This record gives sequence, C-alpha cells and structure tokens, in this order.
Amino acid sequence: MEIKAFEVEEWMNKYEDDARYNIAETCVESLKVGELLDIASIERDEFFGRLAETKLTYGAIPGSVDLREEITKLYHKKKTIDNVIVTNGGIGANFLALFTLVRPGDEVVAVYPTYQQLYSLPESLGAKVRRLRTEPEDGFIPDMNKLRSLVKSNTRAIVINTPNNPTGACFGEKVMKEIAGIADKVGAWVVCDEVYRGLEHEGSYSVPSIADIYEKGVSTSSMSKVYSLAGLRLGWVTADKEFIKECFKHRDYNIISCGMIDDALALIALKNKNKILERNMKILLENKKVLTDWVDRTDGVSFIVPNSGTTALIKYDHEMESEEFCRRMFEYNGAFVVPGSCFEFENHFRIGYAPKKEVLIEGLEAVDSFLRTL
Ligand SMILES: Cc1ncc(COP(=O)(O)O)c(C=O)c1O
Repeated sequence: MEIKAFEVEEWMNKYEDDARYNIAETCVESLKVGELLDIASIERDEFFGRLAETKLTYGAIPGSVDLREEITKLYHKKKTIDNVIVTNGGIGANFLALFTLVRPGDEVVAVYPTYQQLYSLPESLGAKVRRLRTEPEDGFIPDMNKLRSLVKSNTRAIVINTPNNPTGACFGEKVMKEIAGIADKVGAWVVCDEVYRGLEHEGSYSVPSIADIYEKGVSTSSMSKVYSLAGLRLGWVTADKEFIKECFKHRDYNIISCGMIDDALALIALKNKNKILERNMKILLENKKVLTDWVDRTDGVSFIVPNSGTTALIKYDHEMESEEFCRRMFEYNGAFVVPGSCFEFENHFRIGYAPKKEVLIEGLEAVDSFLRTL
C-alpha cells in the first residue's frame, strides 16, 4: 500500500524535541496524572493503591461500558453505547472510519487545509480524492457551490474537519447541515474529524456533531485536544450502529483493546468534563487575546481570527517559502511553528496557541525577533 509522507507529523518529529519555544502543539496545555486526579477530587494514594492491585488483562475490548456511556453524553441527539467504538486516539478513529468505509475505486471529496490523514489515507486506500480548498476570504468555510460540483453520484464520502486544524474555523450547524444535504442527495457518508469539538469559543459543544445531524454522519474524536490528555491515546468513532458493527470487523485486525488504564483515566476525565472544559476554555480565550494583540501590533503578519480549536494560520508578508521560513526561524532562535506547506497552504505558518500563557508570550517574542531579521 503506497502512502504519502505525513508532512505535519514528520515536521513535528524532526524538530519538536529540540524546540526552545514550542508554539506548534495543538493540545490545550497537557494535564499531569496528578492534576487530573486533583480535578476529580480523587485521593492519589487511594488511586495508586487501586492501580497496584489492578490485573492488566485486555480489559473491555470495545472500550468499557462506563466510558462509552460518558462518550454518548457529548452528543446532542440520544446515542447508546452501540453507537460508539473506542480507538487509539483520534488518529486511530480516523483510520478505522476510513479503512471501514473506503474501497478501491471509490470517489471521496475532502475539504482542506486539514489534517493530512483525512485525504492521504483515502487516496492510499485506492480512492480518487477530489479536494476542496477553503479560503481565508470565506473565513475558511467551504464554498457550497464548489462542493456541489465535486460531489458525483458515485461519491462514497465527504470528509471534513470542524472545528478545523489548522485554520481554527468552526463550520457551524447550518453549513454542516448543507454538507449533509449534499451528501444525502447521492447517498454519500460524511466523515467529520471532531477532535476539537468542545473547543468552540462561543461555548463548548455549542455546535452539534455530524452524528447528530446526519444518519450517515461519522464523527471521530479523542481525549487529546479538548481534555488535554493526548498521552492516553484514546479516541472513538460515533456513528450509526450498523456502521459501528462494520468498524468492529475491521478493528479486530489492528486493535484488540485500547488499554484498561487509559480507559479508566479517560472515564475520570469525562466524568469531570465541566471542570476540565472550564480550565481549558480559560487558557484558550486568554491566549487568543495574547495572540490577537500580537498580530495587531506586529508588522507583516495577519490572520483570520479563529472561532474554535487551538490553532490558527498566520500569514506573513515575506517572499519566502513556509518551510524555509520556519526552518530558518528554528535555527535562528529555536522558535517552533509548523510551515503552511504541511497543509499545502503557502506563505502561512500554523501556530498552536493553547500552551501555558508564558510559553505563548515567549514564543511570540521569539517569532518577532526573527521577523525583524528579514
Ligand atoms: C484534526 C486532527 N485529527 C486527529 C488528530 C490526532 O489526534 P489524536 O490521535 O491525538 O487524538 C489531530 C492531531 O493533531 C488533529 O489535529
């Protein structure tokens, strides 16, 4: 199976460990295990005592009932645990959904810029992928006329990602309904990567999931970004029961279970989701102000202010390819961002603005001092 290099992951792997000012991360500042327990008011001694006595079996194969029940509560329309299957992170959820759905010769329409997995994986599974680029002048919302023209009678799936990485745009309910309507006309599925759902700046979970909107809507998500627990490697697919059954058949070939410790910690987090969301929205909104003020006072950069998620695309006014721009900056002072080239979006870089506020402030100062050398 031929597959293209995953640009953003390769970039992160190459530079991340040596970054002095890391403002490339997409998670809201990660939690320590102890912090999670404190948030949940669980005594550490009691927790670790229980953990020591836990037999490490495979655990619940599809994910524990309790965890899947908590996951169903993230959706606006009633779901049962049979609508949910647990995976290794959102990346595993995307993989499982697309691996289950896409067959050689299928047509897939994918909206970008986005996480490359969402178009490169269907391509490597043998689909013909037609892509629709969102534009800054449209607020990075897909143009429905263009979408209509790309969807054919044999389109198997439309793949979207909202709230979006890298743009930070939330497509909103109306647009998602229009996308579902276009898919419905030809009986296509809509796969929506929703790993940032819950980080809508106007209010967590204010926008429904594609699995709430459309019968053939497949939602993927995870604990990584919204709950600051990427280390759990825990995600899920939520969809119609029959589709989840099909996922199961495919999942048996590469996941047995996702790890009982990860399952238990994810359950603790989701049971205390409001407290974690409150912490994370505070970090996010305060940092967004820091970023917006910085863009306003800095010559030669501009952006479309994101209304969701943890990332933004910053445009710079220098004649230099984004990879060179980011590499030279990294070599100059260790400021680390992601080049737009990883998203096929030149003259931009992606910033992740949800680390600790001090890290963001120092990182932006470092970008500033590099810009002044140009
Ligand atoms: C849009 C999107 N989907 C999926 C992932 C994978 O996240 P995880 O596997 O940690 O849940 C990422 C990570 O950056 C992402 O940005």
